[in-house]
Amino acid sequence: MAPRNPWSRLLLGGFFACTLPAAAADGIPDLKRAEAIVSARCVHCHGLNGEAASAVFPRLAGQHAEYLGKQLAEFKNGRRRSDIMKPQAEGLDEDDMKALGAYFERKRTTAKTSGDPELLAVGRYIYNQGNRFSGLPGCLTCHGAKAHGTAQLPRLAGQHPRYIEDQLRQFNKRERTNDNAIMHAVASKLSELEAHAVAEYVASLE
Ligand code: HEC
Ligand code: HEC
Repeated sequence: MAPRNPWSRLLLGGFFACTLPAAAADGIPDLKRAEAIVSARCVHCHGLNGEAASAVFPRLAGQHAEYLGKQLAEFKNGRRRSDIMKPQAEGLDEDDMKALGAYFERKRTTAKTSGDPELLAVGRYIYNQGNRFSGLPGCLTCHGAKAHGTAQLPRLAGQHPRYIEDQLRQFNKRERTNDNAIMHAVASKLSELEAHAVAEYVASLE
């Protein structure tokens, strides 16, 4: 997509090295079991269909199964610190995580609309071009032109803007403790306006 960008090479090298062995999905994910777990627990914050009950909880609908499984494993082992999600992930085993990932990935997503076209235009610019004055890379290099992500890279399209901004802040302050190298470098270059604008922009994508 942008072969001259050194960021993409850094990322791809790291991912191919560490994700290939884990990609061996042997069993079929148990969606019935996932549904039972979701309706007993996750529903309170993320909704039965991953649509999220409030803007502070991430939407999980349409998110990549592998990415979701990784996050759950890292909440459980503490690599991604969260007082709310740690107890939720504690009782899940690897098969549960795989099933939950597959369950949410299958759910439909919807775009959110923002009322401010000028803000969206700033967000779109940042998303596509970055900011060469601060050395910020365009988000599209990794998250894709439509913000759909890949198996390892989260989908951002349709996510709650408030959650996105919160994660960017956490990456910047190194409070989101998994994957600091890449997203910390990105988030540390974003101004508050840019973070707000880019969050509104990706939320408006389908
Ligand atoms: C009490 C509310 C609550 C419950 C119940 C809950 N979650 Fe969460 N979840 C959150 C919050 C808050 C976050 C964001 C954590 C952070 O700040 O990093 C989150 C984040 C996540 C993420 C990371 C999403 C991303 O885009 O990176 C996944 C995956 C997830 N939850 C899955 C689940 C599953 C599966 C269950 C049920 C077993 C569950 N959650 C139950 C509140 C909750
Ligand atoms: C060099 C590649 C790269 C670039 C450029 C990049 N990201 Fe990311 N981003 C990642 C990776 C990798 C992750 C997943 C981290 C993990 O596995 O926990 C991520 C995660 C995120 C998350 C967390 C999503 C969630 O569901 O919790 C947000 C928000 C995010 N990026 C926003 C952005 C924005 C906005 C930009 C542009 C200003 C951007 N990223 C540019 C690689 C990148």
